[in-house]
Amino acid sequence: MRKVTELNQNWIFVKSAKDAGEAAAADGILVSLPHTWNAVDGQDGGNDYYRGTCWYRLALDAPELTGGERAYLEFDGAAMTADVYLNGEKLARHEGGYSRFRADITGKMAKEGNVLLVGVDNSDNNRVYPQKADFTFYGGLYRKVRLVVVPENHFAMEYYGGDGIRVTPEVTLAGEGRTKAGAEITVEVWAEGSAGYTDITVAGETRRAVVTEGYAKAVFYLETVHLWDGMDDPYLYTAKAELEGGDVVETYFGCRSFRIDSQKGFFLNGRPYPLRGVSRHQDRAGAGNALTFDMHREDMEFIKEIGANTLRLAHYQHAQEFYDLCDRNGIIVWAEIPYITMHMSGGRENTFNQMRELVVQNYNHPSIVCWGLSNEITAASTVNEELLENHRELNRLCHELDKTRKTVMANVFMLETDSPLLEIPDINSYNLYFGWYVGEMGQTDEFFDEYHKTYPDRCIGFSEYGADANPAYHSADPDRGDYTEEYQCLYHEHMLRMIEERPWLWATHVWNMFDFAADGRDEGGRHGENQKGLVTIDRQTKKDAFYLYKAYWSGEAFVHLCGSRYVDRTEEVTRVKVYSNQPYVSLYVDGQLLEEQEGSRIFIFEVPVTGVHRITAQAGAYRDEITIKKVTETNKDYLFVKEGDIVNWFDQEDFRKDCYSIGDTLGEIAKSPEANAIVQKMTAKAAGSRGDVADSVKDNPALQRMLQRMTLQSMLKQAGDVIKPEEIKALNDALQKIKKVN
Ligand code: GCU
Repeated sequence: MRKVTELNQNWIFVKSAKDAGEAAAADGILVSLPHTWNAVDGQDGGNDYYRGTCWYRLALDAPELTGGERAYLEFDGAAMTADVYLNGEKLARHEGGYSRFRADITGKMAKEGNVLLVGVDNSDNNRVYPQKADFTFYGGLYRKVRLVVVPENHFAMEYYGGDGIRVTPEVTLAGEGRTKAGAEITVEVWAEGSAGYTDITVAGETRRAVVTEGYAKAVFYLETVHLWDGMDDPYLYTAKAELEGGDVVETYFGCRSFRIDSQKGFFLNGRPYPLRGVSRHQDRAGAGNALTFDMHREDMEFIKEIGANTLRLAHYQHAQEFYDLCDRNGIIVWAEIPYITMHMSGGRENTFNQMRELVVQNYNHPSIVCWGLSNEITAASTVNEELLENHRELNRLCHELDKTRKTVMANVFMLETDSPLLEIPDINSYNLYFGWYVGEMGQTDEFFDEYHKTYPDRCIGFSEYGADANPAYHSADPDRGDYTEEYQCLYHEHMLRMIEERPWLWATHVWNMFDFAADGRDEGGRHGENQKGLVTIDRQTKKDAFYLYKAYWSGEAFVHLCGSRYVDRTEEVTRVKVYSNQPYVSLYVDGQLLEEQEGSRIFIFEVPVTGVHRITAQAGAYRDEITIKKVTETNKDYLFVKEGDIVNWFDQEDFRKDCYSIGDTLGEIAKSPEANAIVQKMTAKAAGSRGDVADSVKDNPALQRMLQRMTLQSMLKQAGDVIKPEEIKALNDALQKIKKVN
């Protein structure tokens, strides 16, 4: 039997040392694992979060090795690169911040006084992904470390961090010539040493398999199999292998079959099973990415509460504990490596290594159905042969390592839909932010309909969509870019309708379930955060939009009154929105019934506001309550005002309808040469402020088409501070003098 010792206590953290020699003796602070040195500065919005090499030192008690035993250190995650030294000798280097790796220390230990030292580095470089992305690259030994002593004959410890056992169930569903689903289960093991056989047990049946050149296989047949059936019945089997000489490994696995149809979407075990869910980053307030199991578990409870049945675990390999939680809760997973935003010539090998580790370490999880090759890799790189080859090779590697799953990519909205890049993975998916970063929400519908019509045989998904919301910000007239909860709700209401009308979307993933740290951001009233989450980064606040998804996806009866944080209202009559999965909702004002509505998910009431009111929503036995108050002046705390915003003067109601304005689309304005000339000058300045955007706009017909549908105001908002408010007002005044052509 192998012996495992957790090594998470009594580490000395040395923030800086010029080299391993200095680090081995330097003073430091006592820490326990998981640990990150960016738990605070990685979330506070400065670009100054510490990136460099830090050191972790441990006095290691050497295990007594007998009979050819071997000893390994096992690291579940060291971000982003780690060098492992024992007693001054460098034993291992690992490049990639999200996967498990080991260091063989057999024969390297002294009787006593062993000093284990790990140099961990999260600094900029041009070869280890990720290097450019919208999330904080925390540094540290942010997952657990353990010492593993194995018998001389043992299951593989040196193959991409794997466990040496792989289970491939092949399900034959009922109806394919059978009354009940059955399964053929192939169990493969890899062994190091001289073992001659292994006993493999599945579902109470044990087979002895001969080990030949370090490999053995046994095939089991279950006449009647208990399927792993997603959230309805995530049933798991266990496979156990005992090697001659005593080593034992166990893994659980699930028997399921899935397929993806370009017209009908995702099928699980033969039935339509539309994947509707969210994405998740692995961090939270105060802890950074050094998460405890309890934090993982709590995240899963939030996800289950809204009834999501799928998770995109972006943008890297997540902790085993979390994939395990997905298996046990029946959540279908998109797993991926951090080949993201910008292609690096020097990063090719790293993409392959990170993919090998992701697949080898996670092959047995029934929840995982696809491997993500990259995310928005053309956001800051052009599609050239080198980038294409890197993807083709990654795609081939995935299929070589795993014949049972699909490959996928998440593409940036600007990527032309006829790009050769889209022909590489088995299935496609796009990240679209129409109605947030650019354009109008409805352009999402148009994009997918156009794509689906052009490529009816391609499986298309919606891998990211979202709008930032700060729970402090509110408005009776929510608008794109105001960071209000009310706008986030409108945005997601639109997207849910859009999704419901397009069952051929094989999977959709809200970006994001949780607000997360993005060190480069400083917007929406928060430093260093991306606030597209349905829940805040501290997990303390479920935003109103959280309950919209619960109303759509959860069977747990509830009623939720939106606007609990929108107390001060200037309106004479205010809109009160209720989300519920119940068919009838009654609204009471100060205990008096105002109105009962029959509806579906979204209920809107018009409530007169004269003073302080207690608003109660009732749906059967379920109720919710908020308080609102009439005020004469808008509560300034509700407003996010960015320097240079178009505020105050801009009100289309006052504009001359027979003349152009910045409220018209670029396509409409283009009909008038005079108006178009004025606008072209301004948009050139806006786009030219970022040369790369100007080129990509000019050379990108899809983007051109999209721009034509955007209002001039939307486009100018994208230009940020390049165009001053007074310039926009002058432009609008000029357009208001030009009569529209019919
Ligand atoms: C992109 C990217 C995400 C990012 C998101 C956003 O699609 O994939 O990593 O956080 O947009 O801008 O919120």
